Amino acid sequence: MKSRYVERFRTKERVLHWFVTAAFVTLVLSGLGLYSRLFTGWFNLFGGGPNAILFHKGAGVLFFVSSLMLFLSHRKEVTTFDEDDRHWITKRGGYLSREEEHFNSGKFNAGQKLFGLFIGAATVALGVSGIFIWAPTVFPRAIVQLSLFLHGLTFVLSVMFVVVHVYLASIGNPGTLEGMLYGHVRRVWAKKHHPKWYREVAGE
Ligand code: HEM
Repeated sequence: MKSRYVERFRTKERVLHWFVTAAFVTLVLSGLGLYSRLFTGWFNLFGGGPNAILFHKGAGVLFFVSSLMLFLSHRKEVTTFDEDDRHWITKRGGYLSREEEHFNSGKFNAGQKLFGLFIGAATVALGVSGIFIWAPTVFPRAIVQLSLFLHGLTFVLSVMFVVVHVYLASIGNPGTLEGMLYGHVRRVWAKKHHPKWYREVAGE
């Protein structure tokens, strides 16, 4: 009998995704106190400000490398947009419509592709600006100030998009999280959300 499941992500891909997530969460928690005085209490989680900065630098390097690896591992899927993706974008993925819309999405829909591209670009922006902030006395003041601005802006945008990502990948679209937790998704889920990808992997 045919299994009810199809493989969505291999173990290596899942480990990498959760590694990026752990680094991202550590960065947000250790960076909050650096972002605004309102959040200095969060330093206590790491045993004070200097320790939080150490954690932030360590997690920053780990996030930079792992997030770039994640981007490179699915760059083909997120950098190619076809007619169906353009249709998804015109209709905003159907999220703002009352009628039920169906999209002929491949492995990732256009929204996921845009998110993947954004995270890739944000990783580079955060990493490069982070280098100048790492040793602020070594680099010209104007560059350090510009980096602080870019780092803060990219941080806020990233947290916003990641919150949306977490919602859509879990309670917003039931069945999606299974793929990243266990590696497989239900056939009915695949047919509904990613029909073009399903036809490719199932040969139907
Ligand atoms: C608790 C937090 C998170 C949860 C529950 C979560 C869940 C998921 C799930 C279920 C998928 C697979 C979607 C599918 O099969 O279509 C996925 C893909 C992905 N996740 Fe996460 N994720 C989390 C955090 C993050 C973070 C922090 C990042 C990056 C900073 C990230 C980046 C990605 C990327 C790039 C993909 C590939 C698909 C895409 O571009 O949307 N995730 N995530």
